[in-house]
Amino acid sequence: MSFAAIGLDMGGSSIKYGVVSTDGTLIEKTFSQAPTPAGARPQEVALAMKQIIEDLKQVTGSDLAGVPVGVTVPGIVIDGVVHSAANIDASWLGLDAKSLLAETLGCEVSVLNDADAAGMAEVFAGAGSRDGAPIMGSTLVLTLGTGIGSGMFRDGILFPNVEFGHLQLDGAEAEKKAAARVIREENLSWEQYGQRLQRYLSHVEFLCSPDLIVIGGAISQEYEQFLPQLKLRAKVVPAHYNNAAGVLGAAHRAMNH
Ligand code: BGC
Repeated sequence: MSFAAIGLDMGGSSIKYGVVSTDGTLIEKTFSQAPTPAGARPQEVALAMKQIIEDLKQVTGSDLAGVPVGVTVPGIVIDGVVHSAANIDASWLGLDAKSLLAETLGCEVSVLNDADAAGMAEVFAGAGSRDGAPIMGSTLVLTLGTGIGSGMFRDGILFPNVEFGHLQLDGAEAEKKAAARVIREENLSWEQYGQRLQRYLSHVEFLCSPDLIVIGGAISQEYEQFLPQLKLRAKVVPAHYNNAAGVLGAAHRAMNH
């Protein structure tokens, strides 16, 4: 089997990872996760990623030499530099993550926003695609988790670093009201959460008129609990890739850089 790229998807509690083969599919036995080091500080995260790659060498039985690495960060990323850190340690702000990771991992690294990566997986080969090609028009992929991530596409082309989780809505930041974590934190019923999402998605729809909205994040597995409540002009569908979307998108970016 030929290995095309490694994807590492950094979250607040875990780093998901896997190897993608030359046909762009995730090699199932390589897909796993490791805990994010406490505090999620850059140096420690980089070292944890180094260890993950060592583990992947064992699993694949290959030295993975020359295989490029794609890494997601839950913040704005421009040319490998992190420009926001809403849910991660403040020391990521202004950090040249691409250089730090390339140095620590000893290979070429591409760095991108986590929701942009998840969106790429959905739009190229998931719920935002048809017959293996992106669905034309405006597609918005939203990941509902600790925060709200957003990936915006027009005819399959990414408009990077859209931060719709940070819209101000009814006097609060939208992700503080409508990210999946509020269900547990505020002990919301599905009906109450559905109302929050309706308010948020109506506003987002007003702002950018997507044709298709893909709802991702772990909560998308429970889409039957809230999707039927939503009334929007756009078509709304659950994500195809559950928690592997970020890994796939990161690897895809690495393969194409
Ligand atoms: C960050 C985004 C990220 C999202 C999901 C937000 O707080 O600002 O960049 O995509 O959380 O992790």
